[in-house]
Amino acid sequence: MASSRPRDLQLNENGRLRHFLTIEGLSRDLLIRILDTAESFAALPGRPVKKVPLLRGRIITNLFFENSTRTRTTFELAAKLLSADVINFNIGTSATSKGETLLDTLRNIEAMHSDMFVVRHAQSGAAHFIAEHASPRVSVINAGDGRHAHPTQAMLDMFTIRKHKGDFTPLRVAIVGDVLHSRVARSQILALNTLGVSEVRVVGPRTLLPSDARSMGVHVFHDLAEGIRDVDVVIMLRLQNERMDGALLPSEHEYFRLYGLTDERLENAKPDAIVMHPGPMNRGIELDSAVADGPRSVILQQVSYGIAVRMAVLSMAMQSQADLEVEA
Ligand code: NCD
Repeated sequence: MASSRPRDLQLNENGRLRHFLTIEGLSRDLLIRILDTAESFAALPGRPVKKVPLLRGRIITNLFFENSTRTRTTFELAAKLLSADVINFNIGTSATSKGETLLDTLRNIEAMHSDMFVVRHAQSGAAHFIAEHASPRVSVINAGDGRHAHPTQAMLDMFTIRKHKGDFTPLRVAIVGDVLHSRVARSQILALNTLGVSEVRVVGPRTLLPSDARSMGVHVFHDLAEGIRDVDVVIMLRLQNERMDGALLPSEHEYFRLYGLTDERLENAKPDAIVMHPGPMNRGIELDSAVADGPRSVILQQVSYGIAVRMAVLSMAMQSQADLEVEA
């Protein structure tokens, strides 16, 4: 679907984030700028007056061609806290299911004068395609495309890690489970390596790890205890059953026996290791409830931090549009 490389599209001439489609090609400095900007927004939701007027008068359209709860609602909340007006299109129930093309949907929403699209689509490259075809005055934020990328999820995960661990450089991070089908894992691996962590590991059965995993700059493990030994961060992934063609697993019971995270297995990680999951999680399959609700779990904090990180990305992209307005 995509024809030019995403990094060519993502930054404007001043090096500002115009679209946010992938972590690929972005510098460490830019990722740190996103985290620092998010930090400045993180206190807002807890205040009596929660809104700032940065995006007042702007229209943001959530274009969701695939289901979502936390990503869509935290994008909506982020936009509202920045004082933007928000339109939600759930396209599963809308015109494309009646045969309209993606480009027609785009043109119609542009005709409604939207300044920014937040796009989720089951096909890899969809957000990039929209960014290539959208008017120059529109920014596109990828909220998850197929197996390809989910950059705001990766950045909220980085924000959560930084909150708990401070410096990225000494960290060992294990990503456990269905890496093969996970856009989250792909974006996390790029972000962790760009931020300079000491080691990224992927842990899972052969059938659920990409065959080219090593070329992604990770160490590969098939044994859970070994894979999480002495790590600072354990990131659990959901089994993406909807993206599996055919049986890649013997059974969910067997998967839990081999790869399910329990308190006992977590003993292999560092004593102060944190446990993360992008959600939605399958209790008793990917991890035990005792771990999900336990003292090392930061899973709900990830959701809260997602608001500040999405505010950062929306406001930075809108700032790049302000550059255009200055030129005009
Ligand atoms: C992830 C997604 O949709 O890619 N979830 C999310 O954004 N919170 C991960 C998943 O669905 O497993």
